[in-house]
Amino acid sequence: MPTIMITGANRGIGLELTKQYLARGAKVHACCRNPEEAADLSALAGDITLHSVDVSNAPSITDLAASVDEPLDIVIANAGVYGKQGADQSFANLDMDGFQFALQVNTFGALRTLQAFLPHIKRGQGKRMVAITSKMGSIDDASGGMIAYRASKTALNMAMCCGANELQSEGIALGTLHPGWVKTRMGGDNAPTTPEESALGLIKVIEGLEPGPKAAFKDFRGDTIAW
Ligand SMILES: NC(=O)c1ccc[n+]([C@@H]2O[C@H](COP(=O)([O-])OP(=O)(O)OC[C@H]3O[C@@H](n4cnc5c(N)ncnc54)[C@H](OP(=O)(O)O)[C@@H]3O)[C@@H](O)[C@H]2O)c1
Repeated sequence: MPTIMITGANRGIGLELTKQYLARGAKVHACCRNPEEAADLSALAGDITLHSVDVSNAPSITDLAASVDEPLDIVIANAGVYGKQGADQSFANLDMDGFQFALQVNTFGALRTLQAFLPHIKRGQGKRMVAITSKMGSIDDASGGMIAYRASKTALNMAMCCGANELQSEGIALGTLHPGWVKTRMGGDNAPTTPEESALGLIKVIEGLEPGPKAAFKDFRGDTIAW
């Protein structure tokens, strides 16, 4: 059974991914900022280890990576934010501090996570690295608004694409996956997709990832998204 590292595991899509992987018998390293407050995560049965990680804090990730002394099959950089509370994300009034905040978590945080655990992935069998991105980061889909969020995911997508190219010769597959519009704190109550449906689809897509010259950019149904 695979060993998997997931960030943002205390709620939303990360919690559901953790739940479903555990139900399949996987060993999960579940990361969140405050494990002592993560009641839903702590209640899960199975082979789970909780870790305290803030992905916007580099030492927090490097310290964790140094403490995990086993190969990993899959790393999922899932933790993300829409942006800084109240920060303007329009072109005319883009709040640059807010933009930096989104970059710190969505771009640097995800890349820090994947970079820190690359040695563990190289030692593992599964050899899959996943960033939970968004269709909103697709330039093809740029319908306006939410510039900090969108651009932070676009930058992540580009880095993932180049990473796939760099790592394909080592048999490592990279995926930038859109979970759908999902009923979570981020997605809101009007979202049409449940976390259960999203996680089920994402797990299937992750299973099918192959090394290649570009990262796969797919949604939870396995449909390819234009960059
Ligand atoms: N929901 C959607 O419709 C949707 C659509 C497209 C993409 N996505 C992407 O899916 C991923 C998961 O989103 P979600 O819908 O599950 O959102 P969510 O319910 O708001 O959960 C976000 C998770 O990220 C964690 N997080 C935020 N900042 C962090 C940091 N600095 N360090 C560590 N963890 C941090 C949160 O932890 P705390 O509890 O500590 O804040 C929480 O666990 C995100 O990358 C998001 O961009 C979601």
